[in-house]
Amino acid sequence: MKIIAIGASYSKTSINRVFAKYVAEQIEDAQTEVMDLNIYDLPLYTTEKEKEIGIPQSARDFVIKLDEADLLVISLAEHNGTYTTAFKNLFDWSTRVKLQIFENKPMILLSTAPGPRGGLGVLEAAKVRFPIHGAKIVGAFSLPKFNENFDETLGVQDPILRDQLFELIHKTSIEINEFAD
Ligand SMILES: Cc1cc2nc3c(=O)[nH]c(=O)nc-3n(C[C@H](O)[C@H](O)[C@H](O)COP(=O)(O)O)c2cc1C
Repeated sequence: MKIIAIGASYSKTSINRVFAKYVAEQIEDAQTEVMDLNIYDLPLYTTEKEKEIGIPQSARDFVIKLDEADLLVISLAEHNGTYTTAFKNLFDWSTRVKLQIFENKPMILLSTAPGPRGGLGVLEAAKVRFPIHGAKIVGAFSLPKFNENFDETLGVQDPILRDQLFELIHKTSIEINEFAD
């Protein structure tokens, strides 16, 4: 099984990329590719820009890449309560390639942030929106206070959060296998 892990951020040091990678690597019998979205360099979407240049190859490449996954693990960065502008721009361009960019893919949806809400606002937004684009969300989890609760080597430190996350990963693994059947 191939997992594509994405931090929905263009930050070179994205904590959401770290978290998506960590969660993906907890799933057994899978091979994980961690994406750095910086390879998808795109102008800011406007209808005029699309008329002028068409749909950039980068957006097409991203949609093709998503299609390689048997499971998507996406951890969303939150800026002012919602998607980061750079990720939303990639999302918008991609939906100009095709609306169903997540085409029936099982997805673990995550978020984390240094603050106490852990990006819950953007997580809730994506839980509603991504299924419209074909995502089959099999689990969702928000990790608050990333810097306190996550250790680069040991992973999630808080025992309650750790239990919740691993319960979700376990449940998800079962559901994914049902998908594959
Ligand atoms: C412009 C801006 C707005 C932000 N807004 C929020 C916010 O609404 N909620 C939150 O939890 N963190 C917010 N943050 C902090 C981010 O969660 C933090 O920068 C985090 O590292 C972003 O994730 P990333 O490292 O994966 O890019 C904001 C940061 C910036 C620069």
